[in-house]
Amino acid sequence: MPNEYAELSINGKTYKFPIMTGSEGENAIDISGLRKKTGMITIDPSFMNTGSCYSKITYIDGEKGILRYRGIPIEQIVEKLSFVETAYLLVHGTVPTHKQRKTYSRLLTENSLLHEDMRHFFDGFPRGAHPMSTMATMVNALSTFYPNVDSLSLKEDIDKTTTRLISIFRTIAAFAYKKSKGQPVVYPRHDLSYCANFLNMMFDSPVKPYEIDPEIVSMMNKLLILHADHEQNCSTTAVRVIGSAQVNLYATISAGINALSGPLHGGANQAVLDMLKKINRKKGGIQLYLDKAKDKNDPFRLMGFGHRLYKTFDPRAKIIKKDCRRILEKLGKKDPLLAIAMELEDRVLKDDYFISRGLYANVDFYSGIIYRAIGIPENMFTVMFALGRLPGWISQWQEMIRSDNRKIVRPRQLYIGEKLRDCPEPPELLDVSYNY
Ligand code: ACO
Repeated sequence: MPNEYAELSINGKTYKFPIMTGSEGENAIDISGLRKKTGMITIDPSFMNTGSCYSKITYIDGEKGILRYRGIPIEQIVEKLSFVETAYLLVHGTVPTHKQRKTYSRLLTENSLLHEDMRHFFDGFPRGAHPMSTMATMVNALSTFYPNVDSLSLKEDIDKTTTRLISIFRTIAAFAYKKSKGQPVVYPRHDLSYCANFLNMMFDSPVKPYEIDPEIVSMMNKLLILHADHEQNCSTTAVRVIGSAQVNLYATISAGINALSGPLHGGANQAVLDMLKKINRKKGGIQLYLDKAKDKNDPFRLMGFGHRLYKTFDPRAKIIKKDCRRILEKLGKKDPLLAIAMELEDRVLKDDYFISRGLYANVDFYSGIIYRAIGIPENMFTVMFALGRLPGWISQWQEMIRSDNRKIVRPRQLYIGEKLRDCPEPPELLDVSYNY
């Protein structure tokens, strides 16, 4: 029970609303009784000030640059856990024991094969289709093969359901890439870890065997972990909203994939690389793009900068930035785009426009350079983000369907359209061939 209340005065009458306190001391006014008491609603476009749920999964302090999964700092997770262990942590709330890890890993292997009939679906997509659109369609199609995976008829063990999705998602992503290259698909192997398996399915070929580099596998683990959850972001909110209608899990996740594909969200990692390349091609490119970003008449935004929550360094970007230089050196690759990215960030950090708005490099700013270095093609960058974010979507969906106060999400609006008016007589029909 709350022991503090916020008071709201409307037309001389005072109403009290409970102040709820989170485990890290954050406060929120519970206005769920507002309309009943006052007849009014709140207006908060883009949900800038709206807490949509109670959650025990991820904690972010945007002012201090803190990110924790289930209470554990992200900096420790990337050092100590694999992506699969992180997925388990998000879904179950605890780091898996040796036995749990073994079971999870067995389930991942057993569920990695895509239904053979689904393999033919790929033939229907145009060659140039963006892999995010293919992913969303394929994951949605899983609901036709597994129709009983929704909140009401969730009869299956949650581990089986979620590992199937986490495992098959990786297979679909690699198949989508192979199809776009016109190459034969490579099936998952039982003897490879999650990330090694993915890289092998992506890059192995009958004419050029892929050599698995543990350094690249470890980097991929890290990148996926950093993207694994980020509380109520746009795609996760899409997942919670769609899932609240008791939709099949696979259809729900498909909505998350579509939301993530936008350039203001997960699509930013691909957009960053496009931007860095353009800067590289132009003399004085950095200044030019900084000016464009600051020009209020230009819709351009500096991709990879800014975040709704972080008004200081994005802790994920801090980790990636260090690795970016290290992995490039390790692989013996020189990327002019890294030098540009470093200088751009340096200039942003000294520029009043960005300082005054709290705009810092976000996770997408350096991730593209690393993906490029480890051979991931640009149109697959956002798919990599989705692969990482999947355990987050699943754990948020699971938390939502299991919560006591679960209801279909249905915001209200303030209507500002025409007042009541009569319908005018329609114009006389001059040409009867039209289908009115
Ligand atoms: N470049 C230039 N100006 C920017 C940028 C940017 N990247 N981001 C924000 N601003 C400015 C806005 O123009 C606005 O200025 P104003 O106050 O003078 O009007 C101010 O900063 C606040 O911006 P908002 O759009 O209100 O911030 P919001 O929280 O709505 O948007 C977002 C956050 C979408 C991430 C935004 O910063 C952006 O578009 N960034 C570029 C795209 C990007 O990198 N997206 C990835 C986000 S991280 C992720 O999804 C994993």
